[in-house]
Amino acid sequence: MTQELTSPTPTTARRAPEPGRAAGWWRDAVIYQVYVRSFADSDGDGIGDLRGARERLPYLAELGVDAVWLTPFYASPQADGGYDVADYRTVDPLFGELRDAEELIRAAHGLGLRVIVDIVPNHTSDRHPWFQDPELARQRYVFRPGKGAHGELPPNDWESVFGGPAWTRTDRGDWYLHLFAPEQPDLDWDNPDVHEEFAAILRFWLDLGVDGFRVDVAHGMVKAAGLPDIGHGEQAKLIGNQVLPFFDQDGVHAIHRTWRRLLDSYSAVPGQGTPPAERIGVAEAWAPSPERLALYVRPDELHQAFNFQFLTADWQAGALRTVIDASLAATASVGAPTTWVLSNHDVVRHRTRLGGGLPRARAATLLMLALPGSAYLYQGEELGLPEVTDLPDEVRQDPAFFRGRPAAGGAPDGASDGASGAGGQDGFRDGCRVPIPWTGDEPSYGFGPGGSWLPQPADWGGLSVAAQHGDPSSTLEFYRAALGLRRQLPGLGDGELSWRPAPEGVLTFARPGVLCTVNTLGRPVELPLPGRPLLASAPVTVRDGAAVLPGDSCVWWAL
Ligand code: NOJ
Repeated sequence: MTQELTSPTPTTARRAPEPGRAAGWWRDAVIYQVYVRSFADSDGDGIGDLRGARERLPYLAELGVDAVWLTPFYASPQADGGYDVADYRTVDPLFGELRDAEELIRAAHGLGLRVIVDIVPNHTSDRHPWFQDPELARQRYVFRPGKGAHGELPPNDWESVFGGPAWTRTDRGDWYLHLFAPEQPDLDWDNPDVHEEFAAILRFWLDLGVDGFRVDVAHGMVKAAGLPDIGHGEQAKLIGNQVLPFFDQDGVHAIHRTWRRLLDSYSAVPGQGTPPAERIGVAEAWAPSPERLALYVRPDELHQAFNFQFLTADWQAGALRTVIDASLAATASVGAPTTWVLSNHDVVRHRTRLGGGLPRARAATLLMLALPGSAYLYQGEELGLPEVTDLPDEVRQDPAFFRGRPAAGGAPDGASDGASGAGGQDGFRDGCRVPIPWTGDEPSYGFGPGGSWLPQPADWGGLSVAAQHGDPSSTLEFYRAALGLRRQLPGLGDGELSWRPAPEGVLTFARPGVLCTVNTLGRPVELPLPGRPLLASAPVTVRDGAAVLPGDSCVWWAL
């Protein structure tokens, strides 16, 4: 008998909301990134906002994720999509007001979803009151005299991640450091005021009930003493491949240790019994190796660190196995789980980046969700959205576009090429930030009652939530099925992985209760039947004791 299977009937089983949060909830959590300005717009100004996000939370609960991460919604001139913060305790009017943040947090908790917010400690906006006051600015940011007879040359040879020198000269003649745009001056973390202020900001949001922070540029706050030259013409190639005087300095870990103590002080809620609430930190750190990355998740530091080595790996069995093994070994050595991710707002969507279209993207996702640890999803990947690669220059907003350097948020150049660049639009980041489609027919596909800050492709109606909802062959229902099964299979999130023999180009590994096969080749491969198929990223054929894995596919089998 021949049987073809893609997705079983999607399960709607959800854990009951857990008001007293379980210890270690984050170790195997699936966390959904909401890029606020592109998720849902409630007021029709074409820009997503907090109310829009709150109204769509039931969709995320039904999808089956455990938490949401909201990108910055704080007061900001938006020189870098809100990663240029002018006031860390105020919601930008574009996104609503503080009450909207509180209501969102409350509504999420009511649905059993936790909320992670972004914190941007490496730099502020140049409109931040500290930078606006020349005296305070000199104390709290990195100012240096220039070189040359008249101080007309930058203090050193560092380059901005977005291109051009990392220094800008002020009217007063001195220079300030900005590893990103000139509108994002770097803070001086040698100044205790900076430490105090950020501790207070963290407390402010913890008191409002957030469950954790995604720490932007967590590898950048501390610079090498003396700010030494790099002396390499192509700095972008070094970022993420080695420790630099401005990235991955050992000194950053002392900050993360302080923050862990602060987070832990909120984690035990007196009188609420066990398990205690756990508030977490996740590092956005582009470290040169899994071992260096693991330092960020030592027991007294942050809880998670995005695994960008996995994100930038080629779709090739050997490369994937190598990065999975190295990541698991490195994080195990410090007792932490690994945090997998395939897409975010800084890189080309993985449907496009991996070069194999939707089948490969679905296979990669199912592989990721079978690995031990936590996983982050980026809004729209559950719809199978591709990167938008034909945005006209006049609508682009990525500051890297204007400074001429494709960037992946401090990513190594390898990642800029491999993650931000390949298949994208010149390597810039607007193509993954186009507002997502909710319905097929309304203006802006139901993103909001008005337009959309970036134009949406003409053929996105068929990819909308409404078009896919309830269709068992859709990518949306495939994600729901995968997340539902992950919940039902105890131990799948945070447990052992053991490799099994597999033909060239195929990966086979066992997890508690599940065997996972991944065919990275572009053609079908036949295997002895590994078990009962549970879920497949593409139709798998089972006959006479054999299974035919389609090209670019991943299948979960019951053990
Ligand atoms: C990483 C963020 O993800 C990216 O969007 C931003 O441009 C840089 N950090 C600078 O804050």
